[in-house]
Amino acid sequence: MAEKSKKTTAGTAWSGRFAEPVAARVQRYTASVEFDTRLAQHDVRGSRAHARMLRSAGILSQADLTKIERGLSTISREIAAGKFKWSLEAEDVHLNIERRLTALVGDAGKRLHTARSRNDQVATDIRLWLRDEIDEITALLAAVQKSLIAQAEKHAATIMPGFTHLQVAQPVTFGHHLLAYVEMFERDRERLADCRKRVDTLPLGAAALAGTSFPIRREQVARELGFARVAQNSLDAVSDRDFAIEFTAAASLIMLHISRLSEELVLWVNPRFAFISLPDRFCTGSSIMPQKKNPDVPELARGKSGRVFGHLVGLLTLMKGQPLAYNKDNQEDKEPLFDTVDTVKDTLAIFAEMMAGVKVNAKAMRAAALEGFSTATDLADYLVKKGLPFRDAHEAVARAVRFAEGEKRDLAELTLAELRQFSDKIDRNIYRVLTLEGSVAARKHTGGTAPVQVMASAKAARARLPK
Ligand code: ARG
Repeated sequence: MAEKSKKTTAGTAWSGRFAEPVAARVQRYTASVEFDTRLAQHDVRGSRAHARMLRSAGILSQADLTKIERGLSTISREIAAGKFKWSLEAEDVHLNIERRLTALVGDAGKRLHTARSRNDQVATDIRLWLRDEIDEITALLAAVQKSLIAQAEKHAATIMPGFTHLQVAQPVTFGHHLLAYVEMFERDRERLADCRKRVDTLPLGAAALAGTSFPIRREQVARELGFARVAQNSLDAVSDRDFAIEFTAAASLIMLHISRLSEELVLWVNPRFAFISLPDRFCTGSSIMPQKKNPDVPELARGKSGRVFGHLVGLLTLMKGQPLAYNKDNQEDKEPLFDTVDTVKDTLAIFAEMMAGVKVNAKAMRAAALEGFSTATDLADYLVKKGLPFRDAHEAVARAVRFAEGEKRDLAELTLAELRQFSDKIDRNIYRVLTLEGSVAARKHTGGTAPVQVMASAKAARARLPK
């Protein structure tokens, strides 16, 4: 690298203790302003609440509070308009805002940091920010669920093969298959709601690590910022990032569910399956093969799950060796967290729309369900209902399947006389059982694939969604 270890000259918030300015390379290395400006509006909110509390505790004069509030409003507007000038010299979002405040309102700005540290400040900002993001992600999950439920209702009676080992197993309805994902995303919403409870804690007041000698009123700040509780231990308050890890774990499961769905979409649009087609606006072509329509969105979503899992491992690793309390390591929590939120939000927004636009090829699904003797279990169940022990029924049907396979016919295409070779308990009414419709309709208990049950489940799933 060409850059010399040249020194910067400007004074920083803490330069008083130092004999020489920080090296330019070190300044860049230690600064977080390139990414933490994303917390700017939450930082302003936190500062406003802190200043008001300082006033009511008698630590700050009314005149100073008035100036601080005016300055913070100006800053908030500047940030919103993209006019705020961020400087690397001021290191991070917090010091940039404080410096601007002092430039705007003088000494009152310098008094704002009384009874506070950047350590409790940054922890507060992240929690405020993440709480908002969790609410948005929860709403996006509900939007994906809504699309899936609508498709499930439309296809409550559309029959497809259900798979185990990716081999045709038993017929299911497409609606039932989609509702499996609705259940996964429901658990994801529950996990976020649970994680949100622990995000919803106010660190402010912990100051650098040990609390403060000023008579602060933490409950007041918590109330103003809408936090459910105040952190009960100052050392924990400034150093805890469990909440971020927990969130990233919940986000990883969301992406894992999206990735499984994506894998299925990629298979289903393949002409060998041809179960569905995706709207053109979610696909792209090839620059060399004019005939191609590629399912890029599900592929990319499947790929992006990897980066979110990576962020989870990154955050776990970030924390594992840290002694109490705050360490600069924690500055590294932001980029993985921001990227996790962006990835999950983009992905869910796209999936909500894409899944609503899925077109189903019911004929292809039905043809595939007819392959592979998918109603064999129904024949076995039929024999059991006629008194045969299940293991014997299994054996009889296995022999029937072998016979039908040799004949290149489905079980339903065998004559009654042929079927009766394998068990004399088989009667004429067997043909109702052996049809795809008969097979799915019979599974009408809670959690089953019958069209009536799919409609009931869809209704119940819809009732769980926010209005
Ligand atoms: N930019 C820092 C971070 O993201 C803020 C806290 C800095 N505290 C400190 N003692 N250097 O964690």
